[in-house]
Parts: sequence; C-alpha cells; structure tokens
Amino acid sequence: MPTDDRNKLESDSNNPRHIAIIMDGNGRWAQKRFMPRAVGHQAGVKTVRKIVEYCAKHKVEVLTLFAFSSENWRRPEAEVSLLMALFMATLQREINKLDRNNIRLRFIGDRTAFSDKLQQKMAEGEAQTQNNTALTLVVAANYGGHWDICQAFQKVAEKMATGELKNQAISEQLINQHLSTADLPDPDLFIRTGGEQRVSNFMLWQLAYTELYFTATLWPDFDQNSLEDAIKSFKSRQRRFGHTSEQVLNKSVTL
Ligand code: IPE
Ligand code: IPE
Ligand code: MG
Repeated sequence: MPTDDRNKLESDSNNPRHIAIIMDGNGRWAQKRFMPRAVGHQAGVKTVRKIVEYCAKHKVEVLTLFAFSSENWRRPEAEVSLLMALFMATLQREINKLDRNNIRLRFIGDRTAFSDKLQQKMAEGEAQTQNNTALTLVVAANYGGHWDICQAFQKVAEKMATGELKNQAISEQLINQHLSTADLPDPDLFIRTGGEQRVSNFMLWQLAYTELYFTATLWPDFDQNSLEDAIKSFKSRQRRFGHTSEQVLNKSVTL
C-alpha cells in the first residue's frame, strides 16, 4: 500500500473499532526453517508486540488475540507446557509496558484450568491496567466460542435459580450481557493468518456480522503492512446488516 494511503487510515471514521485475530501458523513457520515449533511461538510473540503497538497508535478501540483455544490442550504435552511458560514469561515482561502505554489488558476464556501462578499474574495484569483508556487488549486464553455461550447460559440459569432474573424470556440482549465480551463491541474485522479458512471455535456468537479476512501469511511474518492490507480490505466492503445496498448508500438506515 502506498504511504499516502497508510497515513489516511488514521483519520478515517470507517476504521474497525474492534479487530479480532486468530494468530495461526507459528508451527509451520518454524518447521519451514527446520526449527522446533517452539521457535515459531517465540517469533509469534514478537508479532504480537508489533500489532499491539500499531493498534494503540492508530486508535483501534479493541484488539482481541486468540492465544490458546479450549482445544489446544489436545497438543503434545511438551508443546502445551512450552506455551504456558511462554504465556507467563510474556506477561511478566510486558504488563508494565502495556500499562505505561495506557493499554487495558483483559482475558477471556476459562482461566481455572491454568496454574495458580498464571491465574494470579493474569488477575494482576488486569487489575494494574483496568483504568487505562487507550486500546483494550483482549487475550483469549483457554477460550472457545462454545465455552462462552455455555458459561453465559450457566450465569443466566444461576440468576433464575436465585430469583435475580424472574422467568425472563431469553433474548439476544440477555445472552449478550452474559458473554465474556459483554462490555465490548462485537468485532468489526476478523483476521486469520496461516492460510486456514475456518473459525476454530473463536467468538462464534460475536462474529455474526463481522467482516472476515483470511491470509496465507504465517503469524510470525504478519506485520504492520499486512494489518494495513486487512484494514484496507475491510474498508472496501459495504456492510449491510440485512439491508439492501441502496438503503445503505442512501443513508436511509442506521447501521
Ligand atoms: C498458532 O500457531 C498458535 C497456537 C495455536 C497457540 P500454530 O501452533 O497453530 O501453528 P501451525 O498452525 O501448526 O502452523
Ligand atoms: C486456533 O488455531 C487457535 C489459536 C490460534 C489460538 P489452531 O491451529 O489451534 O486451529 P486448528 O486446530 O487448525 O483449527
Ligand atoms: Mg494452527
């Protein structure tokens, strides 16, 4: 993309407020170089830093990164342990930096499966950055879209049992309010790196009207230019939310 176009991204009100990314391809990136998959995961962390920096600088409101799925426990034990250690080390190194940059850190997913030490660090990171007002960085860890919907139903059921909710009809709004992302806008732009064209149990409810973007670029090779290409593609699309193209063009409807 020419530099002129890049500079324009910032001032444009059609920029995505919430970008959600499946960071895929670390293992293949390493294997292509005849290196262990761990090296790919380490290289992936460097990409995270660059993409977070870009989003903060360009006033994206929310960036959600899929770091570990509820299905990733099925990987060989050594890889799971490596990912946990990398997660811990990254938090230890980055929390202060995020805080200095006014970034609010949040986790979604079932954290009870993580070690006490890791859960404590996650809580610490959230508490330390909770009042920050620039980018909200949401890390999806042991997250699954099915889990999210189940836990929302669980919370609703508990509130009905205690009488806090009385025979209320189950509405979309009620479900929304109990998802792990209740206080966040739905993603505008979904990006999956690594060439696979699937959602892999990521934010199933929230992606209902998200624009999808798939790229073959492996996550460690994804950079700020790649992100700008994705944003450019997003901006070239007409979001209709069920309306006709004409209704949207005439601005006779609010989206
Ligand atoms: C994504 O990269 C990182 C995690 C799932 C934790 P992969 O590890 O899935 O990389 P590939 O898909 O095997 O290349
Ligand atoms: C999705 O990637 C999960 C994360 C990036 C954290 P996977 O590599 O686990 O997805 P599948 O198994 O190929 O669908
Ligand atoms: Mg993968």
